[in-house]
Amino acid sequence: MIAQPSMIITIDGPSSSGKSTIGQKLAHKIGYHYLDTGCLYRALTVATLQRDIPVTDTHAIIKLATEIDITVQISKMEDGRQYTVLINSTDVTWDLRSSNTDTNVALIATIPGVRQILTEQMRSIADGVSIVMVGRDIGTVVVPEAPLKFYLDASIDERARRRHKENIANGQKSDYQEILSNLQARDRIDTQRESAPLRKPTSAHIIDTTSMKPMSVLNAILMIFHDSM
Ligand code: DC
Repeated sequence: MIAQPSMIITIDGPSSSGKSTIGQKLAHKIGYHYLDTGCLYRALTVATLQRDIPVTDTHAIIKLATEIDITVQISKMEDGRQYTVLINSTDVTWDLRSSNTDTNVALIATIPGVRQILTEQMRSIADGVSIVMVGRDIGTVVVPEAPLKFYLDASIDERARRRHKENIANGQKSDYQEILSNLQARDRIDTQRESAPLRKPTSAHIIDTTSMKPMSVLNAILMIFHDSM
């Protein structure tokens, strides 16, 4: 049998636009690997906070990024997680979504030295495999050569509502207003940072998911995927 060449599908978009839900379902449906790249920035944020490194100490955070070992694994736990993330073999999966991580991750993701290290890690995870990668700069910076790109968007109220619902479903404490202002702050930082800001990649298929059910978004993407093959 002739081996299929590896293929990368990128899904970018703002926080809680549905990227990770859709990305994971898509990968499962078409038998691709899946990587939520935000989990690498979140893992580094968890490690920074655990060590009481001030989030303004860019030098120490870049050094930390070179020292720690972040591993993303397929989940074997039945507790609602999409994947398992280890920092130096310790499971930090649920810390990735804490409100302290939420508050600080966008700032850490503005540091160019951090982006360089984590971008390399993303590229090496994607090397030689067929994969769906979701994030902010995947189609623009991490793998601009990817042949199929999507950009998912949704109104900020809808995104806050989704995150609130997700927290409650996971048994976590949740405050809608806090989530909303957190999202506003993160959108501002993600779109205005100098290094790899959130942008719609040229040639991306843009989908506004505000009033769409996840299944409709998935079907729209699957149709484009099959048309492109
Ligand atoms: O998708 P998320 O909310 O888990 O992402 C967390 C943060 O990481 C978010 O503020 C933006 C940043 N991020 C990024 O800058 N580039 C990526 N490829 C993925 C995430």
